[in-house]
Amino acid sequence: MYTFPKDFWWGAATSAPQTEGASLSVGKTATTWDYWFEQQPELFYDQVGPTDTSMLYTHYKEDCKRMKEIGFNSYRTSISWARLLPDGKTLNPEAVAFYREYFEAIHQENIEPVINLFHFDMPMWLMEKGGWEARESIDAFGFYAQTAFECFGDLVSYWTTFNEPLVHVECGYLYGYHYPAIVDFKKAIQVGYHTLLAHAKAVEAFRRVLPNKKIGIILNITPSYAKSAQADDQKAAQISNLFNTKSFLDPAVFGHVPDGLPDLLMQHELLPNTKETDRELLAKGIVDFIGLNYYHPRRVQAPLAPNMPAKMPEDLYAAYDWPEKVINPYRGWEIYPEAIYDVAIMMRDEYRNIPWFVSENGMGVADEERFLHDQELDDTYRIEFMKTHLAYLHKGISEGSHCFGYHAWTFIDCWSWLNAYKNRYGFYRVDLKTQERILKKSGQWFKQVSQQNGFEE
Ligand code: NOJ
Repeated sequence: MYTFPKDFWWGAATSAPQTEGASLSVGKTATTWDYWFEQQPELFYDQVGPTDTSMLYTHYKEDCKRMKEIGFNSYRTSISWARLLPDGKTLNPEAVAFYREYFEAIHQENIEPVINLFHFDMPMWLMEKGGWEARESIDAFGFYAQTAFECFGDLVSYWTTFNEPLVHVECGYLYGYHYPAIVDFKKAIQVGYHTLLAHAKAVEAFRRVLPNKKIGIILNITPSYAKSAQADDQKAAQISNLFNTKSFLDPAVFGHVPDGLPDLLMQHELLPNTKETDRELLAKGIVDFIGLNYYHPRRVQAPLAPNMPAKMPEDLYAAYDWPEKVINPYRGWEIYPEAIYDVAIMMRDEYRNIPWFVSENGMGVADEERFLHDQELDDTYRIEFMKTHLAYLHKGISEGSHCFGYHAWTFIDCWSWLNAYKNRYGFYRVDLKTQERILKKSGQWFKQVSQQNGFEE
C-alpha cells in the first residue's frame, strides 16, 4: 500500500479561460485568446474557441458537487483578470459576485480552493500597450493582484501568482502557439523578466493585505536529461535546466535570478532592460510554497550547429530523441514517471525542502470518444499513468521531500488553447453539445485513492 502524508491534497487543477465560458459577457472584456479566435478561428482545433467550454460560469454549483463526489479535498482554478477588471482599473461587480459565490460553493463541499491569478489570459487592454513586453505590466499586475486579495482574501487561504510563466514566454515569443506569436529570443527574455517582477509585486501586495495566508507560484517542470556523459551534452542539459527550471524556481525560492544566467545572457546579447530597484523587488518574491506541473521530461544534447549569439534556445541545447522512451500513444508525449522522484529529491536538496505539491499531472488523449461505450468511458491508461507517477512521488516523499499534495489535470475535459478539445484530460467527460458530464473510470478510481489516502500496489 502506498500511503501518503496526513492531510495530503487530492484534487485537480483548471483555469478560468479553460472552463468558464461567458468569455465576452457579464462585463468581461476580451483577452488575447478571444481576440485571436475572432481574427483567426481556423488556427483553433475544430474552430472551437474560448466561448465553447464546459460553461462553468453557469454550472459551477453542480460541478462543485461533482468534485466532492470524486473525493477532492482541494481544487485549483484561476480568476480572469479581464473579468474582474474589464479596463484594468474599474472593478466589475458581477465578477466579484460570481467569484464569491463560486468560492463559497467550493467551501460548501469542504474543498480547499487554491486560486491562481494569471493563466495565459492576457487582457487585450494591456496587450494593446505591449503586454508583458511593457514595463507597465508589472504595476498593472500588482494592482490586479491586490484587488483580488482584497475582494476574496476572506474566502481563499492559498493563492498563486502565475501558472507556467515559462509557457507564455516560450509560446508567445518563440514558438508561435500563443498570441502575439512573435519569434524573438531577446523579447522572450524581456517578457520573462517582467513576469518575474510582476510576480514579486503581487507577493509584496499579498504580505500587506493577507499576512496570515499562503502564496505560491505554479511552474512547469520538464527536467532535462543529457544524451551522454560527454561534457558538451552535460553542459547543454545544465543550460536547459537553467532556462527551463531555475529561471523561475530560484527567484521564487531564494529571491534572486539563478547564478550563471546573467552571464549566459550577456554572452548571447540577450540581457533584458533592468532598473536598479529591480533586485530589491525580486527579493520580495519569495513564496511559501511551490506548485510543479509535471507531464514529461526533456532529452537534450549539445547543439549541432551552434549560433553565436544564440537566436533560439535550440542554439544552446538541442532536442534529442531518446531511443528507450515510452510514448503516450494517444497524445505523443514521452511518459517518464521516474522524473517525479528526481524532482522531489531536487526540491529536498537544492530548494531548501520548501513545501511543494504536484499542481498538474495527467494524460491527454485525442479522440477519447473511441473509449466511450454505453455511457461508460474506460480510461484505464490514465489510471496506470497516475499510479506510476504517484508511486515515484511516494518514494520521494518517503525519502524526505516535503510534498503535500497531488492535483491532476484535470477535473472535467477542458478547452486547451489552440488544441481546444482535441486532447481530453478530465476525470469527467463533457459532451460539448449537450453539456452532459460522464464520470470516467479514472474518476471512480481517484475517489478511492483520496478516501484511502493512497492505493494498493
Ligand atoms: C498546462 C497548463 O497549465 C494547462 O493550461 C494545459 O491545458 C495543460 N498543461 C495540458 O497541456
